[in-house]
Amino acid sequence: MALKKNKQFRWQRKHLLGLRELNAEEITYILDTAKGFEQISTRAVKKAPPLRGKLVVNLFFEDSTRTRNSFTLAASRLSADIIEFTKKTSSVSKGETLLDTAKNLEAMGIDIVVIRHTAGGVPKFLSRSINACVVNAGDGFCEHPTQGLLDVYTIRKIKGTLEGLKIAIVGDIAHSRVARSDMWAMTKLGAEVIFVGPPTLIPAQVNRLPVSVSYSLDEVIEKVDVINMLRIQFERLGGNPFPSIREYSHYFGLTVERMKKAKPDILVMHPGPINRGLEMESEVADGANSVILQQVTNGVAVRMAVLFLVNQAAAQSH
Ligand code: CP
Repeated sequence: MALKKNKQFRWQRKHLLGLRELNAEEITYILDTAKGFEQISTRAVKKAPPLRGKLVVNLFFEDSTRTRNSFTLAASRLSADIIEFTKKTSSVSKGETLLDTAKNLEAMGIDIVVIRHTAGGVPKFLSRSINACVVNAGDGFCEHPTQGLLDVYTIRKIKGTLEGLKIAIVGDIAHSRVARSDMWAMTKLGAEVIFVGPPTLIPAQVNRLPVSVSYSLDEVIEKVDVINMLRIQFERLGGNPFPSIREYSHYFGLTVERMKKAKPDILVMHPGPINRGLEMESEVADGANSVILQQVTNGVAVRMAVLFLVNQAAAQSH
């Protein structure tokens, strides 16, 4: 499925809500744009002017280390002004609604809203309610598109292409927006994706998704080129999806012992934050095959590309 370069292609979306709705050409265009931005972060003066005079708000209703700071850095590198909003220190704690919050921020002249929310569908709702560009920074179990983009960017940068690669996404798939965005981006770019986990952590209607499923990490580990270990999302688990943490680690943890069966050039990924010793041993997280911190570095360039492109599309639509 070699993608032909289309010189006429023009990015037209003023919102980035998810990767499900993007085609391979659009995803590739974001990755190529990010590649162009990557060198800005290595300059002595780490700034470029494309968003000068634009106002970006980080509207986070859920905690974040990587995504939030990465968006802040990306906006700053493109010379935008940034408002940092947190639920705890805002009037949301006094009962103000999401829509009123967004409308009030819009009245201050924001151009781009980067939103993270516990409820799926909030970014889409917001995109229909305000004029600013909306970028999804993670909504419920639904999507985390910039994580999906930075993951495929990292794989493409190291392996050259995703076409023909076998990728295992392991662990708490059911509660993972990262798994969903990764799945869409990876399969659209030609990779084969295998969801691996206990039956209780695999989504109910997985047969409708473009993936295969395995309940045995030991059967999959030797076949894959990339393994993406997901965090067990204790804050979202209902009931007891596995008998004990020790048992989960035994069957689904990425251990030094298990890594002996993997291809020598396997890429080990994790979106963070890691539960060290649970889904992955520290020796693996910090080992030679790990690209976890490269994912974080690449996230800045990818988010610069996203902010740049949505702003450009908004300017063209006026
Ligand atoms: N990967 C990710 O979304 O991490 P944060 O929750 O720290 O943003």
